Amino acid sequence: MSGRRDAPLMRNNTQSIFKSRIAIAIAIGVFFGGVFAFFFPNGFFFVSSSAPILSHRLAKSISPVGSAECESSETINLLKSEFIAASERNTDLKKQIRDLTQRLQLAEQGKDHAQKQVLVLGDQKKAGPFGFVKGLRTNPIVAPDESVNPRLAKLLEKVAVRKELIVALANSNVKEMLEVWFTNIKRVGIPNYLVVALDEDITTFCEANNVPVYKRDPDEDIDSVARTGGNHAVSGLKFRILREFLQLGYGVLLSDVDIVYLQNPFDHLHRDSDVESMSDGHDNRTAYGFNDVFDEPAMGWARYAHTMRMWVFNSGFFYIRPTIPSIELLDRVAGRLSREPHSWDQAVFNEELFFPSHPGYDGLHAARRTMDFYLFMNSKVLFKTVRKDAALSKLKPVIVHVNYHPDKLPRMKAVVEYYVNGKKDALKPFPDGSD
Ligand SMILES: *[C@@H]1O[C@H](CO)[C@@H](O)[C@H](O)[C@H]1NC(C)=O
Repeated sequence: MSGRRDAPLMRNNTQSIFKSRIAIAIAIGVFFGGVFAFFFPNGFFFVSSSAPILSHRLAKSISPVGSAECESSETINLLKSEFIAASERNTDLKKQIRDLTQRLQLAEQGKDHAQKQVLVLGDQKKAGPFGFVKGLRTNPIVAPDESVNPRLAKLLEKVAVRKELIVALANSNVKEMLEVWFTNIKRVGIPNYLVVALDEDITTFCEANNVPVYKRDPDEDIDSVARTGGNHAVSGLKFRILREFLQLGYGVLLSDVDIVYLQNPFDHLHRDSDVESMSDGHDNRTAYGFNDVFDEPAMGWARYAHTMRMWVFNSGFFYIRPTIPSIELLDRVAGRLSREPHSWDQAVFNEELFFPSHPGYDGLHAARRTMDFYLFMNSKVLFKTVRKDAALSKLKPVIVHVNYHPDKLPRMKAVVEYYVNGKKDALKPFPDGSD
């Protein structure tokens, strides 16, 4: 602690010595400036024209030895007053420079922030009465920029409905699940969905099944991951690929393929946040957040420390609006995934969304919403709770995401049997978890 306290004092000392040295240097500079201004009234670089004046003045001030004592004191007085005038002007100019520099710095600092504030808030407003103030959640969408990908822009014009669509990435490893995925989307009658094909086989498969498909332009960075990358690596790709969709002005419901669609999700979105995501949580507390009290008995009176907890957003199913914070999120996640090759995209996605700004770190300021965990249901909720509960098992979710179980395909098919074909026993053979 003492070291911390000393440091500023020492700095002040050295600063004041430094400052007085500067003052002396400036005074000397100003003095010589005055002298030179007197002798070289037209500046240094007009030697030929000023030479006669110089010799004339020198002659005047130096050569007459006997007769000119009063003239030389006159000269000194003149020099003195010129010196005073010059230093006054110098102080004035320095003050002006200081003021202008300060204003410039402030303007630079505030420019970006202020522009965004004006854009979001419009004119300054007074706060309303108690209970009637509400902050903003909904950021303005970006101006669409078709130049980032004209081909995709054309395709999205055809596929999207009200500038929104479901997007899934797929390679040949997930072909069977993809089939269940689009079969149920078609059954529900959702027109606005698109598969981003990561290999040729998936492109042909989609075309053969009348499924809107987008084959990306070759990009070696992305393509090598798409072909050879593991589950997590491929999952990380979506953050890079999604950027263009948002830049084109589309809201994207990003979807993994281990998801069964039972209703149209676009009828169940709130669209008030940058990111609206399904949860890995399994009840109100874990899905929507709770105050988790940490107990440290050794602290006695202060043994209870309150902590904020929430089960993560599932990065396999979220709706993302085309806003600046959303695009910043994609960039931050993609950037970290490429710098930290062993990181898990879902962990990074949540860290970027939820950690606040703190010393040395500027957090993302994005609005977030957790989807209803009964409507956008993960497979833990379904197999642990819902299927055993008389009331809950009668509700029809919007989607079921088989994210908690490795035997994805058979469980997806069972979900279809249960909810679509009404087979009451379809979910029975499966254990709550996996061994
Ligand atoms: C969970 O939250 C919902 C809505 O917020 C509420 O209706 C329900 O009673 C809550 N359930 C429990 C078990 O607390």
